Amino acid sequence: MADDVSKHGMWSSRMLFVLAAAGSAVGLGNIWKFPYITGENGGGAFVLVYLLCIAFIGLPVMMAEILLGRAGRESPINTMRKLARASGGGNDWTAVGWMGVVAGFLILSFYAVIAGWVLHYIFLLAGGTFTGADGDFTTKTFSAFAGQTLPNIPWQELFWFTVFIAATAYIVARGVSRGLEMAVRWLMPVLFTLLIGLVVYAAIVGDFAAAWRFLFKFDASRLTADGVLEAMGHAFFTLSLGMGAIMAYGAYVPARVSVTTTAATIAVLDTVVALCAGLAIFPIVFATPGLEAGAGPALIFQSLPVAFGGLKLGALVGAVFFVLVAFAALTSAISLLEPAFAFLVERYNVKRGQVAIVAGAACWLLGVGSVVSDPFLGWVDFLTGKIMLPLGGLLIALFAGWVLAKRVVAEQLGFAEGWKWIVWSVAIRYVAPIGVVAVFAYPLVTAIHEHLHAGS
Ligand code: PHE
Repeated sequence: MADDVSKHGMWSSRMLFVLAAAGSAVGLGNIWKFPYITGENGGGAFVLVYLLCIAFIGLPVMMAEILLGRAGRESPINTMRKLARASGGGNDWTAVGWMGVVAGFLILSFYAVIAGWVLHYIFLLAGGTFTGADGDFTTKTFSAFAGQTLPNIPWQELFWFTVFIAATAYIVARGVSRGLEMAVRWLMPVLFTLLIGLVVYAAIVGDFAAAWRFLFKFDASRLTADGVLEAMGHAFFTLSLGMGAIMAYGAYVPARVSVTTTAATIAVLDTVVALCAGLAIFPIVFATPGLEAGAGPALIFQSLPVAFGGLKLGALVGAVFFVLVAFAALTSAISLLEPAFAFLVERYNVKRGQVAIVAGAACWLLGVGSVVSDPFLGWVDFLTGKIMLPLGGLLIALFAGWVLAKRVVAEQLGFAEGWKWIVWSVAIRYVAPIGVVAVFAYPLVTAIHEHLHAGS
């Protein structure tokens, strides 16, 4: 095939693609968001829905994104255009690519705010701020830093947020192999090792049994319609699906790499990291007076410093841990911009460096809203996580399942019949789309139900 390489570059090996995609998937979603939304949604039941969404919706959609990307070898926008045309579908499918680009900007704008908190905490920890600290102290420290409201300008927050956006734009500007690969090659394995160490430590000093029960004891009564939507949205968010990040990365995957195995590897890695983060954080939360599971976005910033504060060398280990979280956030952040970069380079033939300045500035402006206003941050998070990503994922599943020519799919997957093909077809045509639609409809149905009952 003439276009069996991408003009933006290629991953140098299968391993590097898995690392890069895992780098995109593993980020603040696993370490910051998963624990806090699990805490807010009451634990076990929420975790189960999340795991089901990963397996039955996330995995097929991830396979779809990789195969679409590799079949098109261009930015998600142009890949969708090209594949839709070739399969006799309309130009409208490019909207999936466009929505993804917009979602990427929106997500990065608040992602960078949280990453900025992480950067700030590196220095707080390294400086020994939390040595011997209790839950009260860590809670107060956090609100003093991030709890400012207008007209007070949170200068520190703004500063670290800006540093993170600049770093992201700089790395994406360097392009696939020089920028992206370097960042993921070493940092991911180290982060993983340290996280396991933290779980062991939390098990020793914290209330591991309570944490385990909280995470894995299924209690259906705690399941709310909003919790279910949150769980599904998070499955997309944590796997970087629904906005073209994995599709863009898929465009740089060498021809003979197996879509199924890589997608499964990435999904498993991502899930294990999230569960480990939960198992590191909740034992501390349950064993520390002044901390509570439902603390919200502040959760890891209140709980982890208590753990590090009680540890010999805790200032050092804690600082190193937050450095790694910052890098995990960075390898996710760059994938949020990659679809836009690839498109602009294709469309206007500009240099990645030029794009970086414009894209960075746009994200920065949007993100200032989230720096100064928590409700604004919450709203952007809601719009992207609960609406845009699931919607994008739904459309991607429908496109791969119903529109794309079977020949193209079969060539990418490496099978065209037998049980594998049947499982794939059922998953991408029915299970994933119906799953998304059902979760979208669930709050609606409950609301109508309640309304009728209230009336009677
Ligand atoms: N998956 C990333 C995380 O969990 C966030 C992300 C979402 C990255 C969507 C790219 C696309 O932190």
